[in-house]
Amino acid sequence: MFLASIFAVALAALPSTLAQADYTAAHNVTPISGTWSSGSKKVVTGPGFANPANMTFNYPPVTGVSYAFTDDGWYEVARYRFNGNGSMPNCITGVLNWHHGHYSLNDNGSITLNPLSDGFQQVQDPCAAESNFIEQYNQTELYMGWQIFSDLNDGPKLHIFQADGTPVAPLFQVYSTANMLPTQLLRNISVTVTDKTLSKRNAGSRSWTPAGVTSLVSGVFAIALTSMFL
Ligand SMILES: *[C@@H]1O[C@H](CO)[C@@H](O)[C@H](O)[C@H]1NC(C)=O
Ligand SMILES: *[C@@H]1O[C@H](CO)[C@@H](O)[C@H](O)[C@H]1NC(C)=O
Ligand SMILES: *[C@@H]1O[C@H](CO)[C@@H](O)[C@H](O)[C@H]1NC(C)=O
Ligand SMILES: *[C@@H]1O[C@H](CO)[C@@H](O)[C@H](O)[C@H]1NC(C)=O
Ligand SMILES: *[C@@H]1O[C@H](CO)[C@@H](O)[C@H](O)[C@H]1NC(C)=O
Repeated sequence: MFLASIFAVALAALPSTLAQADYTAAHNVTPISGTWSSGSKKVVTGPGFANPANMTFNYPPVTGVSYAFTDDGWYEVARYRFNGNGSMPNCITGVLNWHHGHYSLNDNGSITLNPLSDGFQQVQDPCAAESNFIEQYNQTELYMGWQIFSDLNDGPKLHIFQADGTPVAPLFQVYSTANMLPTQLLRNISVTVTDKTLSKRNAGSRSWTPAGVTSLVSGVFAIALTSMFL
């Protein structure tokens, strides 16, 4: 608990200091290479999460986020999350997202993820006219900083900060090597794809009624809070 408070204090100070930090000195508890997963570690990159060839996902049992990095510059991201909407509390959007490509550790301590064009995401929004669709995901992602702590119970723990400073949930190292789909283009795509048949296909495995989603989200927040204080 005492250590946890120290980490919390250290974390609070991070976003402002990292911008000027030399990442090679500041982040060498372990290399960033390996496979990292948040919370209950049920969302993990590699086979089992996404099938880029046919743009489908295998639903993890809970939400989470996972990043994998190789020593030679490849990354993969797997995300399953809910986005709340303050003005319309019942309109919680679920997003499954997968992409891979090349990453760079920049001199100012930031990380850039440059995806190949085979990334994709499934968006489920009970309040939108199009309540369930799949689209290409081809956005460069910039993270303003990162830091790897050694956690007494969980081992290496990666903290990364989005471009606006928002922290990603703490990531535990689930493998010391990168668990990834093949590091090559896994689907040829030239247009944005919408597959409405998916709402039917997934109807049995996921209910998007607001009540069900709300209870899942409470669980997620509980997990997120727990991990922050562990
Ligand atoms: C998509 O591809 C995966 C992996 O090859 C396969 O298991 C799954 O059945 C496919 N799904 C559809 C709807 O074609
Ligand atoms: C919340 O819902 C409203 C109405 O659908 C929409 O205009 C707004 O962009 C949503 N906000 C977020 C953060 O998704
Ligand atoms: C840090 O470097 C990256 C890559 O060069 C750049 O995109 C980003 O804007 C820089 N951030 C700051 C705060 O200078
Ligand atoms: C993906 O984005 C990059 C950079 O914005 C662009 O050069 C490329 O054409 C895009 N690819 C596709 C298939 O949209
Ligand atoms: C993409 O298209 C090229 C040229 O037609 C082909 O050689 C390659 O195997 C295709 N890749 C995939 C992943 O389908």
